[in-house]
Amino acid sequence: MKETIVSASLLASNLADFTGEISRCERAGADWIHFDVMDGHFVEQITYGAPVLKFVRKVTEKPLDVHLMVENPQSQIKFFSDAGADIIDIHIESKGDIAGCLREIRSLGKKSALALKPDTPVERVYDYLPLCDMVLVMTVEPGYGGQGFIYEMLPKIKALRNYADNNGFEKLDIQVDGGINEKTGDSAKYAGANILVAGTGLFKAPDMKAACNALKGNQ
Ligand code: DX5
Ligand code: ZN
Repeated sequence: MKETIVSASLLASNLADFTGEISRCERAGADWIHFDVMDGHFVEQITYGAPVLKFVRKVTEKPLDVHLMVENPQSQIKFFSDAGADIIDIHIESKGDIAGCLREIRSLGKKSALALKPDTPVERVYDYLPLCDMVLVMTVEPGYGGQGFIYEMLPKIKALRNYADNNGFEKLDIQVDGGINEKTGDSAKYAGANILVAGTGLFKAPDMKAACNALKGNQ
C-alpha cells in the first residue's frame, strides 16, 4: 500500500490568516496544502485565485495542490503555474480540451490531476490516465466544505485502483476530497485512495496534529 499523504484544505481555515493557518498545518504534520479555486460558474461560490496563491507560496515550502473548480481551466493553468502551484487539478466536467490542459500542466513541469464529480462515471477518466499523475474522486458535490462523505463513491475508487494497477498505471495517485475524517479516510484508503484532502476534519478538530496522525494511520 502507498504511504498516505494528507492535503489540508484551506477552505475550512480562517481565511483572513493564511500565514497562521498554514503554519498550524505544518506543525500538525500535513503533507500538502489544498487550494480550492471556485469561479461562481462551475460551482456557485467564488473563493480565491492565482494572485492569492502567489502569497501563499511565499509562506510555505509544502507542495501546493490546486483544485480548479472552474468552467474554463485552460485560461487559468499558466497563472497558477506561475504563482507556484505544484499540482494542478482540473475537472473532467469543465469546458475545453481536457487532454490539452493535462498536457499543458505537465509541460510546465507540474503534476497533472483530473477530478470527477460524484455523478460522473469513473470510466470516463480511463482514456486520460496516460496524461495524469493523479485522479481526484470527489466524495461530496464540489462547492462547499463541511458536507457528509458519499459512501457510494467507494466502489468508484476501488474500480479505478484496479483498472490503474492492471493497465500499467500503478504509479497513479488517487485522491479523495470531501467529508474526510478518520473513519471515512480509512474507508477511502481501504478502497485504494492514497491522498486524503481534509478541511473540516483538520481545521475544526480539537487537536489538529492528532487528527492528522489519525488520517495517516499513525496513532
Ligand atoms: C469542496 C472542496 C473541498 C472542501 C473539503 O468543493 O473541493 O476541498 O474544502 O472540505 P471538507 O473536508 O470540509 O469536506
Ligand atoms: Zn478541493
